[in-house]
Amino acid sequence: MVSVCVADEQGIRALSKKLQSLLSDEDSQLYRDNVAKFGVTAEYVREAFSEGTLLQVAASGKSAFYLVLGDDEEIVGFAQTIQRDTETLELDRIVIFPEHTRKGYGTMALKKVIEDAEQKQVKAIIVNAGKDEVQARQFYEKNNFKLIKEETVSPPWGGKITLVTYKYQLR
Ligand SMILES: CC(C)(COP(=O)(O)OP(=O)(O)OC[C@H]1O[C@@H](n2cnc3c(N)ncnc32)[C@H](O)[C@@H]1OP(=O)(O)O)[C@@H](O)C(=O)NCCC(=O)NCCS
Repeated sequence: MVSVCVADEQGIRALSKKLQSLLSDEDSQLYRDNVAKFGVTAEYVREAFSEGTLLQVAASGKSAFYLVLGDDEEIVGFAQTIQRDTETLELDRIVIFPEHTRKGYGTMALKKVIEDAEQKQVKAIIVNAGKDEVQARQFYEKNNFKLIKEETVSPPWGGKITLVTYKYQLR
């Protein structure tokens, strides 16, 4: 049975451990999707997913981590949201680990994020994706997110990437 829950401190520590372990394999899909593809340094990503960083982000009160838990409470994916202002929630990341994709788990996680946003009186959820990230874009489009913007930006790790922004209007 798969479930989605908001991570407490222990859950965040477990998530960081899982991510660090997946990222230590340079052949892994997670490494390729998050490090190799955007030209980010491995060090930058490991720091971004370190226990300290995740706990600090969660403690800010503006960010929530959702865990997708499979059999034996194994973490099979996660989502992170950031409250941008009183009306707008950003879906910062949603990742289902490779061997668990295409089973509806991403949609389950997204539904939980949307349910919680509805309770918080949020008006819209926004999400950015790389222009070429076909699977992410199809995932958002299938889930009724609408394309609102395309923009080329200079990320903190250097270079340039073209991002597309999708919006899910709640009210
Ligand atoms: C994008 C992602 C979160 C989707 O999660 P998932 O559990 O595989 O998605 P679901 O099974 O709920 O799929 C829902 C729909 O999304 C679309 N979709 C999902 N994966 C897709 C793929 N690889 N190619 C094309 N469309 C895809 C399909 O329309 C799918 O519906 P269908 O299976 O009936 O055709 C997951 O593939 C992932 O983690 N990818 C790598 C990280 C990433 O790109 N995250 C988003 C940016 S942070």
